[in-house]
Amino acid sequence: MPSTIKEKIKQLCDTIRYHDRKYYVENNPEITDYDYDQLLKELQRLEKLHPEFITPDSPTQRVGGEPLTQFPTIEHRVPMLSIDNTYSDEELREFDQRIKRMADIDLHHDIEYVVELKIDGVAITLWYENGLFVRGATRGDGFKGDDVSANLRTIRQIPLKLEPVDKKLKVPSSIEIRGEIYLPNKEFQRLNEEREESGEPQFANPRNAAAGSLKLLDSRITAQRRLCLFAYAIGYFEGIEPMTHIQCLELIRGFGLPVNPHTRLCKHIEDVIHYCNEWDKRRAELDYMVDGMVVKVNSLVLHNQLGVTSKSPRWVISFKFQPEQAITKIEEIVVQVGKTGTLTPVANLTPVLLAGTTVSRATLHNFDEIRRKDIREGDHVVLQKAGEIIPQVISVLKEKRKGTETPFTEPAVCPECKEKVVRNDKEVYLRCHNPLCQAQVKRRIQYFAGRDAMDIEGMGPALVEQLVDKGFVKDYSDIYYLKYDDLVTLERMGEKSSQNLIHAIEESKRRDLDRLICALGIPNVGSHTAEVLAGRFDTLEKLANAAQEELESIYEIGPVVAKSIVEFFQNEHIREIIEKLKTGGVNTRKLETQKLVKNPKVSGKSFVLTGTLQKYTRKDAETLIKSLGGRVLSSVSKKTDYLVAGEDPGSKLDKAKELNVHVLDEAAFERVTG
Ligand code: IVH
Repeated sequence: MPSTIKEKIKQLCDTIRYHDRKYYVENNPEITDYDYDQLLKELQRLEKLHPEFITPDSPTQRVGGEPLTQFPTIEHRVPMLSIDNTYSDEELREFDQRIKRMADIDLHHDIEYVVELKIDGVAITLWYENGLFVRGATRGDGFKGDDVSANLRTIRQIPLKLEPVDKKLKVPSSIEIRGEIYLPNKEFQRLNEEREESGEPQFANPRNAAAGSLKLLDSRITAQRRLCLFAYAIGYFEGIEPMTHIQCLELIRGFGLPVNPHTRLCKHIEDVIHYCNEWDKRRAELDYMVDGMVVKVNSLVLHNQLGVTSKSPRWVISFKFQPEQAITKIEEIVVQVGKTGTLTPVANLTPVLLAGTTVSRATLHNFDEIRRKDIREGDHVVLQKAGEIIPQVISVLKEKRKGTETPFTEPAVCPECKEKVVRNDKEVYLRCHNPLCQAQVKRRIQYFAGRDAMDIEGMGPALVEQLVDKGFVKDYSDIYYLKYDDLVTLERMGEKSSQNLIHAIEESKRRDLDRLICALGIPNVGSHTAEVLAGRFDTLEKLANAAQEELESIYEIGPVVAKSIVEFFQNEHIREIIEKLKTGGVNTRKLETQKLVKNPKVSGKSFVLTGTLQKYTRKDAETLIKSLGGRVLSSVSKKTDYLVAGEDPGSKLDKAKELNVHVLDEAAFERVTG
């Protein structure tokens, strides 16, 4: 029996840690959730009475603490390199031959490989000193990463203390364990549903969701995201002597970290190829995303002998899978009306699992596409997702037709307001020209409140639907006249959410001019064009009164966009709405901080951004460049002056190097703009 409080706390910590491992790592719980909660509550109670006995590895220390303002940078002791890719059996055989040649091994001799699933998440490294978790970081540029320790601590699968079950296993004095943080598909789906409900933008795929959750400055939010880990390598160690990679994995597992169970030791390359192809077919069985397999030489002596290139070790290669496809049936083709009246055909599908999510809808883009692919209701189709949420119909399986499929007829009237629809000669789109069409009104309001525009948190599609149906909002200016008493009467709007919404609406009145211009929903004017316009006109009034020629004289504004702006502001109804926005207190001027200050190093220069910067979001960096007179473009060409490369730069970096474009890291970017 523990005699002192200190001992009692220690024993509770040990017991909870033991059950954490059983539950989160080994998937084999021994006690009920209720009993577990009782242990945790007891520990919390004792720690509250005796905070002097709280240790950093206590299970209570995972809940997440105060938000940070930015992540400190950590230099990796051993660089976190990337892996070369292969796409075919033949390339894997070439890899095997190459290794034998480099290591001077007889070509008939077999090399042992460890084959692992390539988890599609975020690479991290975890430092343990004398068995205690001291910090963890993202990969960053491979040499330096973000210290995301507070967020990593919230992940239950990461032990805060290494505790070998086998007592013979010695805990190393210092060890760095590497692995992949990922979000299981179910969690990804749950998170996106929640975000849709609350009007927040959805994550495109589980990887982005995991990366976004790991990079949150508020670890209390990360704690709710249920991130998971698979550890796959030892980055650095002292005090242990593994000889093979498989031994490293056994050590990692022995210390209490999760190692993927589908890891296999293969005796030769043909075995490797067989296993890779097996998982290409089986990956849909998994509850997380994998984008290929990783093939690693087993012998660590060989690792040393083979060494590394500047980008990747020579002893490892990945086998990438082709994008996933699925076959399903089109139940029905429906027509949606967008904010400018554009009609888009959408297929309602028999739900099917594809690349980690259940898919029940696919956009068919436009009516020409339906005709060209001869897509009919009742058809079986091949779907594909390439990193996006919205899947595409790749082709129709005509051989599966029974003759009962119905060809789709283009609508002659708007499905919502029943007004006649018009097809512009040059456009492939059909349009409903009725400005009072309820579907359009709703879409416009949703867009107005959306992230790129006025960013009104909590005003999601479901709420807009109710506001319009109940007659509280007829156009977006009515948002600024909403009353608390109206909001509480709506479904799923309690006192708290109504207050929050009133607060978010109030806050949105102070948005900068570019957001307001974007929010108005002028046809052909998205957030980029809105920024260009706000760069030229410092009040909405001036933009509204600008002549076609003046608009056309602006770089990046062509005659079509100019015409659409002029026509928009000529509309009497729009003018009234703008007046109502002003009376409602919405800012219509450029905020002071946005004044253009020309910086000779930036002014007139073109920039392309890639990767993640630490101190700036993508939008902040763009705003900064533009405020100094520079331009931001989306792809690298010979004419690009600078590529700003943050963490995890994409292929733009390779392209920039190829074209001799000047590359700025974050520090250099700060010098140029500072
Ligand atoms: S080993 C130097 N093993 O793939 C080799 N990486 O493109 C270190 N990844 O950045 C990585 N699953 O984020 C390794 N079983 C696995 C992996 C894996 C996913 C990721 C990792 C790395 C990227 C390489």
